[in-house]
Amino acid sequence: MDPNKRPETMERITTPELAQAFIDEQIAQIKEQVGDKKVLLALSGGVDSSVVAAMLIKAIGNQLVCVHVNHGLLRKGEPEQVIKVFKEEMGANLIYVDAVDRFLDKLAGVSDPEQKRKIIGAEFIDVFADEAKKLEGIDFLGQGTIYPDILESDGVKAHHNVGGLPEDLQFELVEPVKLLYKDEVRVVGKQLGLPDNMVYRQPFPGPGLGVRCVGAITRDRLEAVREADAIVREEIGKMDPAPWQYFVAIPDMKSTGIKDGKRYMGWAAVIRAINTVDAVTAQSVEIPWPMLCKMRDRIIAEVDGINRVLWDISDKPTSTIEWE
Ligand code: XMP
Repeated sequence: MDPNKRPETMERITTPELAQAFIDEQIAQIKEQVGDKKVLLALSGGVDSSVVAAMLIKAIGNQLVCVHVNHGLLRKGEPEQVIKVFKEEMGANLIYVDAVDRFLDKLAGVSDPEQKRKIIGAEFIDVFADEAKKLEGIDFLGQGTIYPDILESDGVKAHHNVGGLPEDLQFELVEPVKLLYKDEVRVVGKQLGLPDNMVYRQPFPGPGLGVRCVGAITRDRLEAVREADAIVREEIGKMDPAPWQYFVAIPDMKSTGIKDGKRYMGWAAVIRAINTVDAVTAQSVEIPWPMLCKMRDRIIAEVDGINRVLWDISDKPTSTIEWE
């Protein structure tokens, strides 16, 4: 039997009972596979790695070593939430790596989107490998591979598309959710006690805010993206149902504004909200006018450097969901 093929008889996990049965079975398997050895896991705070972390903590406790790399491109509050949930509440063995300068120095002046993605992916692996080398006695690597990753991309997570860990750091893999679809991973995560805003979060690209700080990333514009994005997530998150994905992009462009009777140049924050089934095509979501006005007022008042707010009403095709 191919371990990377979902058996046709496998029941879809839709209820807490089915999730608990799956968790019990996986915990037993992980214990048998790992024994008293250690597992290393890159914990981004996304749904998949968070569910794997929670499952491994239940199975092997402090034999799990989580590494959370802050590359400076995460959304507002994300690194803090990873530390709070996993270290403080679940007692995980968590190493927090502040790699913000490393990433932003490498990205300085780079405007080509694919080049930016390559730098972020390669740097992530370098930082993670540096941390792994400092640790002793690690035999296994935990990974949040899910079934669509296996079906679509040779079992490699999208943001690892630059080649994986170096030769001298090859570990046996522990991938407890590799046969699950995303909706099942969420049901399992909920059953493991993870907070709703972690389990039901909207998709977020591996290169993070890096592809929303359009063009060459600067620290001040990246900060503006992060702040404006937090406002938009808070406000549009009040829609019921909330759109599939909603965020802010800020192009590398300035236009004229007026402040205290004087003209000055500022950035334009672009609000984007879309619905889709599979991200192959997408429809722009109608946002109520009062909500748009509230976001405009808050962004202009609360975010430094922005003097204009735009709403992107393009569908995919022809526009992609992200701006680059
Ligand atoms: P596009 O922009 O291609 O996005 O219409 C489709 C979906 O994929 C996400 N996306 C990415 N995810 N690495 C990722 O892990 C990436 O480089 C990347 N680029 C886009 C995007 O957020 C949307 O959900």
